Amino acid sequence: MIILLITAMMILTACSRYKVLETKKDTIKIGVSIYNRYDTFISELVECLQEEALKMEKKYNITISLDVQDAAANQITQNEQMERFLERGCDIVCINLVDRTDASNIIERGKNANVPIIFFNRELVKEDLNRWDKLYYVGADAMESGILQAEILIQALQKDMDFVDKNQDGILQYVMLEGEAGHQDSIVRSMNVIQTLTKEGYELEKLADEIANWNRDQGKTKMMQWMTEYAGTIEIVFSNNDDMALGAVDALKEAGYFGTAEKVPPVILGIDGTREGIRAVENNEIFGTVINDIPGQAKGILQLAYSLCYNQPLEDFTLVEGKYIRCPYKIYKKNGE
Ligand code: BGC
Repeated sequence: MIILLITAMMILTACSRYKVLETKKDTIKIGVSIYNRYDTFISELVECLQEEALKMEKKYNITISLDVQDAAANQITQNEQMERFLERGCDIVCINLVDRTDASNIIERGKNANVPIIFFNRELVKEDLNRWDKLYYVGADAMESGILQAEILIQALQKDMDFVDKNQDGILQYVMLEGEAGHQDSIVRSMNVIQTLTKEGYELEKLADEIANWNRDQGKTKMMQWMTEYAGTIEIVFSNNDDMALGAVDALKEAGYFGTAEKVPPVILGIDGTREGIRAVENNEIFGTVINDIPGQAKGILQLAYSLCYNQPLEDFTLVEGKYIRCPYKIYKKNGE
């Protein structure tokens, strides 16, 4: 009898959730958990989510309640935040996983409560995404960013090889600043930028590559070490993101580069197009970057949330394989070229 009652209650709860999702209502409650609020890219993405929510409120005459929580780089904290989102009756939950290989707890909770989950930026493996039909991912194609970063350099090399190859030995000596170990964007970007250049016929020599965890200070520390170790021989700094590239700029500035004609800095390449990243390109500090469309991804997340809540088609995006929204990357050089 008790079992029957519990089962009936579970079915009722599930049905009422469906009703909420299918009926037009005035407020959408969205829970957002980010892996670390000190990450520049993520904090700009959160700003864009807030701006986009305001635009959508006006457009659709609804209220969007965004509850943004910082998991402070702790997966257990994020799992608890998920639980609290569900207790507060969120219609949709958006998760920027702390550990992209550890999504099971969150998936199970969402599935039991029948609340769709939109993962973003830190991509979980396909098998995890396929564990339930209401799991989605919004991000970009990491491979494309590596290829475009190489293209910025190829264009420069075709124009003036000596500008990059300062010792004119026909070989490009480089260092690589890598993001977090295990992050899809670190591995894939590092691999593809080098592969693309090699395929084009350029000879490269790796002086060093190290993990700097997407972080400006860590990027600066690594660059300072390399400047001592490889004094005057670094021709290119490939960085998996703008923040670490800015760290390299900081190190070079401290060593007296920029602002003097005698000391010519290496060519520095970033990815993201954060505000500071773009500013550094315009100031001739970073040679070029690849825009990781922050407003586009924020828009994709919220349009998907809206379409799931009101059962409407997506306006500006295609849902690939019924699960993925990927925003294209774009090259950014000085003066918006
Ligand atoms: C961005 C990095 C960011 C990371 C966080 C990447 O896609 O390029 O700047 O730190 O995501 O997960």
